[in-house]
Amino acid sequence: MSAPDAYYITTPIYYVNDSPHIGHAYTTLACDVLARFMRLDGRRVKFLTGTDEHGQKVEQKAREAGIDPQAFTDQVSQNFRDLAKAMNFSNDDFIRTTEPRHVRACQALWRQLEAAGQVYLGSYAGWYAVADEAFYDEGDLTAGPGGKKIAPSGAVVEWVEEPSYFFRLSQWQDRLLEYYARTPCPVAPETRRNEVVSFVKGGLKDLSISRTTFKWGIPVPGDPAHIMYVWLDALTNYITAAGYPDVDGSDYRTFWPASLHMVGKDILRFHTVYWPAFLMAAGLEPPQRVFAHGWWTNEGQKISKRLGNVIDPLELIKKYGLDQVRYFLLREVPFGNDGDFSHRAMVNRINADLANGLGNLAQRVLKMINGSCGGTVPEPGPLTPADEALLTAAQGLHARVRQELEQQAFHKALDALWEVIGAGDRFVNDQKPWSLKKTDPARMNTVLCVLAETIRHLAILTQPFMPQASSRLLDFLAVAGTDRNFAALASRTLAPGTSLPAPEGVFPRYVEEGEGVAVRA
Ligand code: MSP
Repeated sequence: MSAPDAYYITTPIYYVNDSPHIGHAYTTLACDVLARFMRLDGRRVKFLTGTDEHGQKVEQKAREAGIDPQAFTDQVSQNFRDLAKAMNFSNDDFIRTTEPRHVRACQALWRQLEAAGQVYLGSYAGWYAVADEAFYDEGDLTAGPGGKKIAPSGAVVEWVEEPSYFFRLSQWQDRLLEYYARTPCPVAPETRRNEVVSFVKGGLKDLSISRTTFKWGIPVPGDPAHIMYVWLDALTNYITAAGYPDVDGSDYRTFWPASLHMVGKDILRFHTVYWPAFLMAAGLEPPQRVFAHGWWTNEGQKISKRLGNVIDPLELIKKYGLDQVRYFLLREVPFGNDGDFSHRAMVNRINADLANGLGNLAQRVLKMINGSCGGTVPEPGPLTPADEALLTAAQGLHARVRQELEQQAFHKALDALWEVIGAGDRFVNDQKPWSLKKTDPARMNTVLCVLAETIRHLAILTQPFMPQASSRLLDFLAVAGTDRNFAALASRTLAPGTSLPAPEGVFPRYVEEGEGVAVRA
């Protein structure tokens, strides 16, 4: 069992044949927010992402590019590291499946499966979709143009007939069903769990786990004519990065089983059927949780290279700002559902929630402190019930946000934070500190102090979502670097008399100019 304070979170490893797009950025962003939250909450975090570099699809792409697959993957894997940097992702490790540590782990897992009597040699005759690197039954296919057969994912399948090693997946039905019944539920959201349960109840066939018709992959130990099935290779990355096969090592003992594998809904079955079955068959623990999120469309249309509407995260960042994009992606759509990306929705969120919401509240309060309290944190007097109510709401946020994030409900966590921003706005309007300046300066000090303390809570708790903007807010409140974790929420307050730097706006309004040309104000 992993250590109780450990939190091991993983993204899928990305196919290097594609350039990074909004879908990849979204999955990793969700993990980044959780990793940052858990670190600030005092957990020992391991956050893993990386690239999936083997298989027929990548081999084909390298051939099209006229270069050797290793040189090709070296080149394109870098795009995903660049994305991680541009999105300010805080991953602790970046795995590439072509690394020696991974080849070693895959071969060790294979041997362990073999030793457990879970692997046998046979021959495969059936349909395979290179685009998905997946096998399909005849009954799953539909007729496509030119007599081609099409998988439910839309990928074209081809007939494959070759010798193959098989994994005895058919023996794992009962134990998988027991696994899905565990509490807390290892597959989320609930609808996805039901989907997997009914798939497994329908019966499982043994799985082909090696191919002989291409070379770009990890050779089967003892029979190098066979290359391991790319999904067996890819899934193993999660234990490679935890130090497997060194199961007595401190990394493995601390972090395995993973707390959460974050995946898109299209790769649910690989993660919740094949992966736990491989692990249990090898005598290893299955992951504690797999969460399958939805897909983004662009202005109502499926995102695809063919339609030319792929959304490049780097362009979004340039156009709207990094923290604005991070906020939007996790706020706009209930996590788990599909979502539509539109320029209008993005601008609404930037202006309503960030510029007019958090940005405006902070700016109003900090400006008043700067102008009316000599730029230092004011000394509070006795608190009124209205002061207490706002402070109690702010102090309750940590537990609420934690509870929502434990369920990967990012939108609800942000809702809770924005409720307090709304309460802060109402408090400013009711208390009118600008009038108190003349009539009751001591009361003005108390009101501004309560507001500054509320903003401290908001800024500390929004750090995982918007690391740069929140850290600027904390700079304006002169909160020391060591006091920005969640333990400081309860144990510290702003010290009266602390001098504060002159505040500046943190969230500019997005202003449309002229014929659809947009600039940031
Ligand atoms: N290489 C496999 C994963 C192996 S994990 C052991 C793979 N790679 S992928 O690059 O095709 O996809 C990675 C992730 O991106 C998936 O979780 C997928 O759901 C996600 N997305 C791809 N397009 C997407 C959208 N349009 N919207 C949201 N996420 C989508 O699968």
